[in-house]
Amino acid sequence: MIATVPKKESTPKDIMPINGTDYLELYVGNAKQAAHFYKTAFGFQSLAYAGLATGLKDRESYVVGQDKIRLVLTTPLKSGTKIGEHIDNHGDGVKVIALWVDDATISFHSAVERGARPYMKPTREEDKDGYVIRSGIYTYGETVHIFVERKNYSGTFLPGYQKWETPHYNPTSVGLKYVDHMVGNVELGRMDYWVEFYEKVMGFTQILSFDDKDISTEYTALMSKVMSNGNGKIKFPINEPAAGMKKSQVEEYLDFYEGEGVQHIAVATDDIVTTVLQLRSRGIEFLRVPTTYYDTLLDRVGKIDEDLQPLKDLGILVDRDDDGYLLQIFTKPIEPRPTMFFEIIQRKGANSFGKGNFKALFEAIEREQELRGTL
Ligand code: FE2
Repeated sequence: MIATVPKKESTPKDIMPINGTDYLELYVGNAKQAAHFYKTAFGFQSLAYAGLATGLKDRESYVVGQDKIRLVLTTPLKSGTKIGEHIDNHGDGVKVIALWVDDATISFHSAVERGARPYMKPTREEDKDGYVIRSGIYTYGETVHIFVERKNYSGTFLPGYQKWETPHYNPTSVGLKYVDHMVGNVELGRMDYWVEFYEKVMGFTQILSFDDKDISTEYTALMSKVMSNGNGKIKFPINEPAAGMKKSQVEEYLDFYEGEGVQHIAVATDDIVTTVLQLRSRGIEFLRVPTTYYDTLLDRVGKIDEDLQPLKDLGILVDRDDDGYLLQIFTKPIEPRPTMFFEIIQRKGANSFGKGNFKALFEAIEREQELRGTL
């Protein structure tokens, strides 16, 4: 168990330079309504659109943004499509984790040479605002990474999309800033395979690991390894289930997602109390830990800048590592299947993921599983 995260600088040895997360594409049953949900409940703004009105015949995509976060919500317009099949198998979920790179052609070829399974050959797409080159490889389950090279593009999102303007309905932002990390759930025994994939194919390094001794309750357990890219901007924890007395949350996910996939998207804010108050008033439901969590919190984490009462009222969790502390809270799953959820995180120096909260959190998840009858 590594207690701290080593500071990393981008070096010439970085075999896969990545500037950041470019966008996340979710395949969903109703992209128009999903876009409304992300605007209304999560404070995203209308950004771009592609569909019948832009000449597409088979699908429609709505793009919403909040600071550096971009979500693409895509729905097929007819039966028998790959997108429809994905939704049939998995429910709504993340298909694409797109990574912003300087050269999508080199990224693709170097990944494929190192063993990645190709998803999309380097493809040049252009419109009046310039051109973008995209390429893609498969990762766990049916999830893919798309490399986006956009240095020669000045348009709103990507060629083929038009600006999406909604003059009469633009709920305010809730202060979400960027994707902090994205967690993948993989099948039993497959964590090390995917750790090696990110090391070998993408040049990532493992910065943390947790085993079932760190992450277990009376009933459930999981193991996790956190992979990070050369400049540390991309962090992908990978979970696999560990044997417990009852069904673990990772197993529940794998059963309902019908395979491996993205478990949660952690999004950062500079002011978690204001963000969570906003989200709560807009209908987002969060996991709650017992209020006794707060009785010993300050003994555990030491002095923090925030008042304890609002954290307690909202159910915000706190954890400390060698570099500082973090505040975090988790939503309930955001679709009918108990699969994907969001984490809201505010980092105050800490580079870790809230290990000190795992036990309280997993007990909260188990209470939800109990209600679902899936424990
Ligand atoms: Fe997380």
